Amino acid sequence: MNVPHTVKPEAAIRGPVLTFTGDPFKQAPDEVMVYEPDGIVAFGGGKITHFGPAEVIEKQLPPDIEITNYGPDSLISAGFLDSHVHFPQTPMIGAFGEQLLDWLNTYTFPMERRYADKTFASAVAKMFLNECLKNGITTSCVYCTVYPQSVDALFEEADRLGMRIAGGKVMMDRNAPDYLLDTAQTSYEESKALIEKWHGHNRIMYAITPRFAPTSSPEQLAVAGALWDEYPDCYMQTHIAENLEEIEWVKSLFPERKGYLDVYDHYGLCRPRAVFGHGIHLTEDELCTMHQTGSAIAHCPTSNFFLGSGFFNARLAMQEERPVRVGIGTDLGAGTS
Ligand code: GUN
Ligand code: ZN
Repeated sequence: MNVPHTVKPEAAIRGPVLTFTGDPFKQAPDEVMVYEPDGIVAFGGGKITHFGPAEVIEKQLPPDIEITNYGPDSLISAGFLDSHVHFPQTPMIGAFGEQLLDWLNTYTFPMERRYADKTFASAVAKMFLNECLKNGITTSCVYCTVYPQSVDALFEEADRLGMRIAGGKVMMDRNAPDYLLDTAQTSYEESKALIEKWHGHNRIMYAITPRFAPTSSPEQLAVAGALWDEYPDCYMQTHIAENLEEIEWVKSLFPERKGYLDVYDHYGLCRPRAVFGHGIHLTEDELCTMHQTGSAIAHCPTSNFFLGSGFFNARLAMQEERPVRVGIGTDLGAGTS
């Protein structure tokens, strides 16, 4: 396949190449999958200028161009995107035995406390991003902790590596240990300062991050919506409908709302660039609202099985009449690798 090119190629890589020309959920995979056992991808000015069989492309490239050959045991593809991941949970992958709410209290919150220490946060951020790159992940939507320094730790290292990361400080003002709580006001001020410092800096993007409805007061959710109004090109990430007990809890905390998603919708948190983790147990009405508002689901299969949260029906969510945008996430700490 030849790609039209006007930009001069600066470098090229060679090896087996896998790419897709369409969505394999909508068309038969063999119609949209392109596999080139010995291909060359050339690039210049931040764009791909050439792609095709090595024997064809080689002749089209300037004679002095450097071609890095990765050999037959490699696979060249677009970078993977992790749409939902908690970097602070890197050291507790595989902590076993509980469903969501007990798992948070027993393992997750005590671990996140350690990120008050910037040195510790930086060391884990480094290890986490290195593991992402080793697994082909070049872009992620990342939860940090309630401590702003954990966000600095992640963004500093991501920026050094040239990775595209959307991330944010967790906003959490109730139903968690005292040491992890902020307030509606401090979460607004700290998130705003981080947006001003980082959003749009090279490849770094900010995601306003209320953890999930049970750990935010109505005031804090309102603040999250107001902050997003001020910075509408930021992302917003949170969790929804992961676990049946969690859903009942949300109903008891917000009895005046129609359901879980309506809590977020009420506070202006359902829009394009909203990334809702899990969404396993969303109702048909909620899937319609997700579609109408342009909100997206981050589906985390390994986490869902590990915590026994349930099966997410991706085809139902994406069905043609009211397709909801769905990405794949690792969730990381709640997974096994
Ligand atoms: N819901 C609220 N916080 C979390 C978390 O850290 N992990 C998962 N899997 N679900 C959550
Ligand atoms: Zn999560």
